[in-house]
Amino acid sequence: MIIIFYDTSKININSHIKSFFIMQEIKFFSGENIPLELHKVRIVQKLNLVPIERRLEALYEGGFNTFRLTTKDVFLDMLTDSGTNAMSDNQLAAMMQADDAYAGSQSFMRLQTAVKDVLGKEYLLPVHQGRAAENIISIAYVKKGSLVPMNYHFTTAMAHITQNGGKIVELLYDEAYVINSDHPFKGNMNIEKLDEAIKNHGPENVPFIRMEASTNLIGGQPFSVQNLRDVRKIADKYGIRIVLDCSLLGENAYLVLKREPEFKNSDMGTIMKTMTALADLCYFSARKISSSRGGGMCTNKLEIYKELEALVPLYEGFTTYGGISIREIEAMAVGLYETLDETMICQSPEFIKYLVDELDKKGVPVIKPAGVLGAHIDAMQVCAHVPQTEYPAGALAAALFLISGIRGMERGSISNQRDEDGNETYADMELLRLAVPRRVFTLSQIKYVEDRLNWLYQNRELIGGLRFVYEPPVLRFFMGGLEPTSDWPQKLMAKFKKDFGESL
Ligand code: F0G
Repeated sequence: MIIIFYDTSKININSHIKSFFIMQEIKFFSGENIPLELHKVRIVQKLNLVPIERRLEALYEGGFNTFRLTTKDVFLDMLTDSGTNAMSDNQLAAMMQADDAYAGSQSFMRLQTAVKDVLGKEYLLPVHQGRAAENIISIAYVKKGSLVPMNYHFTTAMAHITQNGGKIVELLYDEAYVINSDHPFKGNMNIEKLDEAIKNHGPENVPFIRMEASTNLIGGQPFSVQNLRDVRKIADKYGIRIVLDCSLLGENAYLVLKREPEFKNSDMGTIMKTMTALADLCYFSARKISSSRGGGMCTNKLEIYKELEALVPLYEGFTTYGGISIREIEAMAVGLYETLDETMICQSPEFIKYLVDELDKKGVPVIKPAGVLGAHIDAMQVCAHVPQTEYPAGALAAALFLISGIRGMERGSISNQRDEDGNETYADMELLRLAVPRRVFTLSQIKYVEDRLNWLYQNRELIGGLRFVYEPPVLRFFMGGLEPTSDWPQKLMAKFKKDFGESL
């Protein structure tokens, strides 16, 4: 029997040759700015658009929480890019050569090589998804009294830190909170505030500084390489580790390529490795960075590897599979190499930019500049008449689903957790996030999103508030149940039917 192993070197795009095929460099004769797709679609999945009456029922069944809708009622699923990016032919092919072994699998060895090639880190510990890495890192380093400074929190990262008795502090520049901005790097850490926070709290109580590549909760906004270098200086001054969340590293690197003059003529591979080299420990959700499943933690420091190693078999699985299916490990390795290809990475940010620009032209308040992961609608402005106590972003997410079948995600106060005394902590921003997973939607679908949002904005006075009827104590946004504070959904449906007639 001859066993032929899939040769990953074939898709190891030479990162030192700049791609010639960046979509926005392809000009249209008409002068229109069209983000041209540089892939073809060969496996498709049918979608349904159910009538508005059914969508209303589905909202009541799902507690006006878009997490609790089922996909048979959803037309365009823009809840997240997590585990929903399109996979490539090469990834699917690689999944067929999985070496299923409890320990010492060759699939894991290939992943290790990919992590070294793409992220520049020698030691890898696999975990079943990103938050599992956050769990292990927090157990290893966070204790009562710890303070973790970060450019912005992510829900699960914060939950694990606080579960272990620590606190977080978000240190951004004021510009980060400006909705209508042209600042290229709103995810930058505020260096002066970082220095001050460490000095005040005592460096011995700061186990690590967390940097999130493209801060998820404030509109997928990137930081610059220069900012990370400045963070490194502070970390070295106090002898503190930097932990880099690489889940959206490819997209952050793509925006560095587009926006940071020093890297104008660089390439994805160089930028990503420049960033990871500045961190002591990197972790990622492979559901995002490599369009597969799983996650990982990687470092070049043997002592860090040793501090985390024993926790992986305890919580995840043996250190050569970490709770991930071996097939997904193969897809992850190929997916990591594919992040070096800017024609693949740019597909989501360029579609997002198109959507943001079109919404902006129509006056719909949206976070600018366009970031990564999705378009972020400012519910504080759209639903200016809905008080923050009635969750404007959750209400906007429900209203958009009702009138379009588009499922977005609330990224506002519902996604926040209560403080130790049980009080609400209102979010800095009330956002409706519309994720644009890689290579999943067509441009006409994006135009439908723009069209329905435009209609909803014109009819925004009809959107009302929400209140909790079931509130779980941790990460309440996932399974929480809400209800409308009045019959506003029925009134919104009536207006939709008046304007659209029999149209779905
Ligand atoms: N870090 C970031 C920046 C993330 O966006 C996520 C997940 C995680 C960590 C956790 O990874 O889901 O694999 O456990 N973000 C998803 C989202 C859930 O929809 O934005 P995970």
